[in-house]
Amino acid sequence: MSVSKSRKKVTVPGILAMKSRGEKIVSLTAYDHLMAQSLDEAGIDIILVGDSAGMVIAGFESTLPVTMEMMLYHVAAVRRGTKRALLVADMPFLSYQTGWQEAVKNAGRFLQESGAEAIKLEGGSALAETISRLTGLGIPVMGHLGLTPQSINKFGSYRLVGIQKGEEKTLLEDARQLEEAGAFCIVLEKVPADLAGEITSRIKIPTIGIGAGMNCDGQVLVSHDMLGLFEKFQPKFVRRYAEIAAQMRTAFKQFSKDVKSGQFPAADESY
Ligand code: KIV
Repeated sequence: MSVSKSRKKVTVPGILAMKSRGEKIVSLTAYDHLMAQSLDEAGIDIILVGDSAGMVIAGFESTLPVTMEMMLYHVAAVRRGTKRALLVADMPFLSYQTGWQEAVKNAGRFLQESGAEAIKLEGGSALAETISRLTGLGIPVMGHLGLTPQSINKFGSYRLVGIQKGEEKTLLEDARQLEEAGAFCIVLEKVPADLAGEITSRIKIPTIGIGAGMNCDGQVLVSHDMLGLFEKFQPKFVRRYAEIAAQMRTAFKQFSKDVKSGQFPAADESY
């Protein structure tokens, strides 16, 4: 079974149970209520309001300019389209790295003001205390290891992580510490499949891969990538399930042609 058919509300304990049952977890991103509605009706388990919104919606070159206010707006819109899926809000750059108090305050806003059920943050052992504080206060945390796009200036490119000296050991230790701190799952981005498999087998919480191969407990993609809506670049790990941008261009061109030629609107489209 690739996509859960159950209409039962997806919860954090439900996600943990899926790993125990060996059931794959399916996640995609959304930034507005219509996309969320489609994902929810399709049975997607986790809807992630990623800070990728900055790139695919706002047109920024990276996720760094994304603010709390932008994310609160997107999460609230997605909330209005989501009934069954677990709704996870991505914490933007500098909304949690400056200390656990700030992280609690901002994460709390996502739950209180926008209706998120969990938050995601990027980083390893340096965030263990923050994760422990958040989970201790009843705010479920999704971790994010490997390529962490908010650290693009440290990495220098959106490269594979886990292949340079010491990175494998660090990733294994970071995953262990995130689990110990109380994270309920971990996104593994752009990590070699074998290493992702090793991490997955060593921890009890699920791993959700993006460019991390088939050995993870689940998979996530940016919806705008897999729909062929965001065309600026296409990483190898993105499988295109549609060509929506191309279809949109065709539709827009046809509309333009119809207006210019006087074929739109027709009599039955007028009052
Ligand atoms: O921002 C995002 O959409 C993400 C996913 C790619 C995991 O972090």
